[in-house]
Order: sequence, then structure tokens, then C-alpha cells
Amino acid sequence: MITEESVREVIDTARVEDVVGDFVNLRRRGNNYSGLCPFHNEKTPSFNVNPARNIYKCFGCGVGGDPVKFLMELEQLSFPDAIRWIARKYNIKLEEKEVSQEVREELQEKESLIITNDFARSFYADQLFNTEEGKSVGLSYFRSRGFRKEVLETFDLGFAPDDRDKLRKAAIAAGHKEEQLEKLGLVRNGRDFFRDRVMFTIHNLGGKPIAFAGRILKKDAKAPKYVNSPESEIYHKSDVLYGMYQARQAVRKEDRMYMVEGYTDVISLHQNGIRNVVATSGTSLTDGQAALVKRFTDNVTLLYDGDKAGVKAALRGVDVLLTSDLNVRVVLLPDGHDPDSYLQAVGATAFSDYLISASKDFLYFKADLLLEEAGDDVSRRTKAIRDIGATLALVEDPLKRAGYLQQFSGRLGIEESLLVNLVNTAIADRRTQSRKTREREERKAQRDRKKTSGPSAPPAPNEDDAWEGLVEPGWVSGTADDNPDPGNLPETDAPLAKQTPAPILGHGFQEKYLLHLLVRDGHKLYDDSSSTSIATYLTTNVADLLGDFDSDAYRELLQTVIAYLKNHQSAPAPDWYSNHEDIRWKELSVDAVATPYTYSPNWREKYGLHLSQKMPEENHRLTAEIFLRIFRMEKIERKCRQNAALVARYEKEGNFSKLKTHLKVQMKLDEMRLDLARALGTVVLSR
Ligand code: GTP
Ligand code: MN
Repeated sequence: MITEESVREVIDTARVEDVVGDFVNLRRRGNNYSGLCPFHNEKTPSFNVNPARNIYKCFGCGVGGDPVKFLMELEQLSFPDAIRWIARKYNIKLEEKEVSQEVREELQEKESLIITNDFARSFYADQLFNTEEGKSVGLSYFRSRGFRKEVLETFDLGFAPDDRDKLRKAAIAAGHKEEQLEKLGLVRNGRDFFRDRVMFTIHNLGGKPIAFAGRILKKDAKAPKYVNSPESEIYHKSDVLYGMYQARQAVRKEDRMYMVEGYTDVISLHQNGIRNVVATSGTSLTDGQAALVKRFTDNVTLLYDGDKAGVKAALRGVDVLLTSDLNVRVVLLPDGHDPDSYLQAVGATAFSDYLISASKDFLYFKADLLLEEAGDDVSRRTKAIRDIGATLALVEDPLKRAGYLQQFSGRLGIEESLLVNLVNTAIADRRTQSRKTREREERKAQRDRKKTSGPSAPPAPNEDDAWEGLVEPGWVSGTADDNPDPGNLPETDAPLAKQTPAPILGHGFQEKYLLHLLVRDGHKLYDDSSSTSIATYLTTNVADLLGDFDSDAYRELLQTVIAYLKNHQSAPAPDWYSNHEDIRWKELSVDAVATPYTYSPNWREKYGLHLSQKMPEENHRLTAEIFLRIFRMEKIERKCRQNAALVARYEKEGNFSKLKTHLKVQMKLDEMRLDLARALGTVVLSR
């Protein structure tokens, strides 16, 4: 670990104009500098650097910060890596604090593996450029593909000679360990693993070589076309996309990532100015890769051959992108072409135009394809529609999903409600599935915890708190369709750092948000046909939960609204809150306006919902409904967990009368949970 003093020194030394200047062409303007923003695409400079304050700011896209932040964002570096980067630039010697022996060994191990891989990288490059064999076999091959010298270097391409152990000998002579070479898969049983192949280096996000792929040049039916480094401590295949290091800045700028299958496609496109491109290397996409994409952009375009295999590839593994809430488009290339060959055939300009004109939203692409395949065959058509429903169910954003549903019912020529049902069933299946997985994981984690730290006592809630006389108040309105159980959830939401000056415990964050809703929407009508206000709707539906509030303050504030509603015909208007003598209401009103329609980052993950800033104002009723259901769900689930602990305890103690009571409570809770879950799955779809 870098010591605090060293970090300070680096931060004090770093000059924003120097650091930014390494990436952006800056021009002086008075005391400041300006240039083209590296975070978004622009033609006139709106990116400003202020040396006096040591900060940068883009007036186009709004990014801004200090030199460290600049590096972290642009280069996707961790904080310590950004500090190291700056230290290297200014020749600052960093003092590192002792970390635990274990951590240090692990770091050293990784570092030494990377160093050995880096040796191999330079060895393969040297073979390519500086040996007769490399030049005549490897380099001439790359030339024939039209790769110019710069891309050979940008992508660290190389050549592995047809030799028993040339790399091994050279590496050992240079002080690298045989054991490491074996671990990295460079050497197997004393022989070089990559032989007589052109070499592609696979980099991590920091540009370090973590693995290699070698392509055969001879026609050899028996040998695989590509061989790859094995998984190792530094190479987790499922978290890597080939070319990400070279693509990262362009991806940010274009706010889109092209995905192709082949290594050579990446290089060819890059060379022709399309730099926001990575390769999946012919396998299905993983969650890890989707998460990697998501760090840079929300928009992905798959670029595949127009042949059967290409289409299959496009369909395969896209689920993972959809569930990660990425917007996926597809471009199919004319039959027989892969991106590289098509680009060579039509030239860069026509190719770029094609990318735009031929790109289709993935869901429409899939629907058209399945329907076309099914033709007039009724049973195949039914299956196709079911398939499409299942894919639609993967779209996490309920508003986006609703949009698709509308479009699709027209396209497929079936009733929207039918399609909605189909999708709901698929969502239910999926949630059950993921709940089961989660439960399995939880059980496993519990077992592991027990193994390491001994049994931990379950939280012992107050046993008299068995939620006596529990009644589920009917919804003021709203229908329940058949739908899913979002499953067991963690106890608390992490409070949003920005919105909560002091940490709010437990459900406090959500309780606060309830008050936000009251302030903002309480006076609006829940229902045009009746005179119910949002405030009445919200308060009646949480009245039974007041005892379960984690925040005494929020409970108290809520009670003042309930009292108001008892004594007045209509709900309090926004200025009732902002002019309230209780200063906390004033603060909440300010807060409520400043807080966009997002409840909690956790809720979004758990329930697949997000009422983002884009949520139109007129959706106050929908917002209130969804909010309330989740709010209740959270409380009920917590009750469930507490009650389950009591059940377990009374069972163990043999206290059967208590056990009976709590089993009954459990049943009631389960019922409520199920009802809510059903409502949650359909609330958006059913309108
Ligand atoms: P060129 O034929 O040189 O254009 O290479 P390419 O990279 O375009 O290969 P191709 O289109 O045949 O395959 C696409 C991708 O699938 C490759 O880049 C590899 O990642 C992967 N791939 C193809 N063949 C093999 C193989 O035999 N083994 C492995 N592990 N991967 C392969
Ligand atoms: Mn190819």
C-alpha cells in the first residue's frame, strides 16, 4: 500500500495541465487552457483546464475534477494506479506501507507473471521484426492482411518461431522462472507451447500483457486455428474482451462499443479508424464481460457475418447484455463476409455508412429472424413468439420493456395483453430461477461463514413483536396479476453517499424517500375519478408499518401528515411543507426537489426497476405505486427473516405454543409477500 505521505506528495506535485496535456492538445487562453474533450465527441473545444485551481472542466459534457480523477476516468485506473502513474511521470519515489504477507505475495506473484509475459511479448515481437523466419512467415502474413506497422505495434503482434524451446531458453537466460512460464502456459513439459504461429497479445485495461493467442498459418486440418493461454492468476478469460485496452477511449467518446468475433477484425477496423471495437473471441458473452462494457458505455452493436453461423453467434449470449441493461443493436454483414473482409471490399467510408444504415435493434432483429424462420407453421410461430417473450423479459427497465411490448404486439400481430402475459410468465420464471440461485449461494456462504467463524447467533428480535393483529390494507386501487417473488433480500440499502450527509440506518433511506414523495406529489390526485390524493394513498398504505420504521424522525414527520389529512379535505400542498415551522420539513422539501426519481441503487438491482431522472413528472401515480409496493415488500421481508429466526428458535427449544403462533405469522407474511411480488412484476406492464 502506498503511504499517505506519498499520496499527498503525488497529489501536491501533479499539475493538471501536465497530466491532461499528455492526452489532450491544449491551447493557452489567458490564464487557462482549452482543448477537445476526451470524454465526448466534439469539434469545437469546450474542455477547460484551470492551472490556478488545478482542475479541469468540460462545459460540453460536464465532467470535471483534479488530475487524479482525470486519469481514473479516462484510463479507468484505480486510485492507487492513478497515483502510481503520476509518480512515474514526475519521478516521485513512492513509499509503500507493509501490507500483509499474504497480500504482498499475491501481488508479487501477479506482478512477476506479468513481467514474464511481457518478456514473451517482446520476444515474439523481436522474432516478428528481426528474424528471417519471422519476417518471411509472420510479417509477410500480416502484410498480406494489410496490417501496417503501427497497428502491429499498437496491438503487440508477434511471431512464435517453429522451434522446440526458443522462448523457454531465452526467458530462462533472462532470469525468468520455468515454473512461471509453465503457469502462464508459455511452456509445457519443457517445450514452447506456441510454435509456428502469429501471436496476438491480450492486454488488461492497463495495457499489460496477460495472455496470448496464436494463429496457425499453415493449412492443417488437425491443429486448431487458434490456441490461447490458459486461465491464470492474471488472466480470467471471462472478464476480458480482446482489444478493450486499445478501444477504451474511443468507446467513451463514441458512447458505443462494436463487438466482433475475430482478433483480426478488431485490428483491421482499428486501423481504418473504427477504434471503438472489441472481440468476443468466438465465445458466448459472460456477465463479467458485460460488466466491463457497462463501465464504458450503455450501447453495444454486434457486428457479425451474415451467414448462419454468424446469425447464431449474434443470438448466442446476447441475453447477458440485455440483463445488464445494455442497449444492443446488430449489424449483419453481407453473406460470406466478416468485418475485416467486408471493410477491405468496400472501403472505410462505405463500411462506416453500412454500420449505421444496416444496424437493427437486437430485439427486432431476433423477432424478425424467428418469425421468418417459422414461416406459416403455426406451432413454430407459437414457439417463436414464446421465445421473443422470453427475450423481452430480459429487458430490465420496465419503461423500456413497455415500449417494446407496444411495438411488438403490432409487429407480431397479437394482442398486447397476451404478450404481456407471456412476458410476465417469463419474468416470473426467471426471478424464481435467480432466487433459487441466490438462495443456494446464500446457503453456501452461510456454510462457509460457519466454517470460518463458528456459528453466529441469528438476530434475536423482540418476541412480543409478532406483528399482532396483522392486516394487509387493501390497495386503494390497482390489480394483482400473476407474478413473481423477488426473493430474499439483504437487510439494508446502502445509503446514497451524495444524498445523505450522515448515514441513515436500515430502511431509513427509503423512509426518507417516502417523505420526498409526499412533499413532491402528495397533493396530486391518485385517481382522477375519485378524490383520493397521493398523500392519502401513501399514508393509508403504510399506516400499519409505522411501528417498523427505522427512523423515529421520519415516523414522527409522517404522523403529522396523517394528522393533517384527518382534519382537512385535501392533502397539504408543497408550500405547506416548505413553510412548515418544523425545519426538518423545510429541509425535506429542498431535498425532494433536488433528488431525482430514484429510490435506491439497490432497489433497482433487486427489483429490476428504475424510475430514473427520465421518469416523466406525470407518472406520479405509477411512481407512488411502485414505491409503495417495494417499500412494503422490504419491510415484510425483514419481518419474514426475523420471524423465521424465531420459528427456528422455538422449534429448537421445543416451545410449541410459541412455535404455532409464529408459524401462523409466517404463513400470513408469506401470503402478503407473494401478493406484493405479483403486483410488483406487473405494475408497469399492465398499463
Ligand atoms: P482470420 O481467419 O485470420 O480472419 O481470423 P479471425 O480472427 O477472423 O478468425 P475466425 O473468423 O475464424 O474466428 C473468429 C474468432 O473465433 C477468432 O478470432 C478466435 O477468437 C475464435 N476462434 C476461431 N477458431 C478458433 C480455434 O480454433 N480455437 C479457439 N480457441 N478460438 C478460435
Ligand atoms: Mn476473419
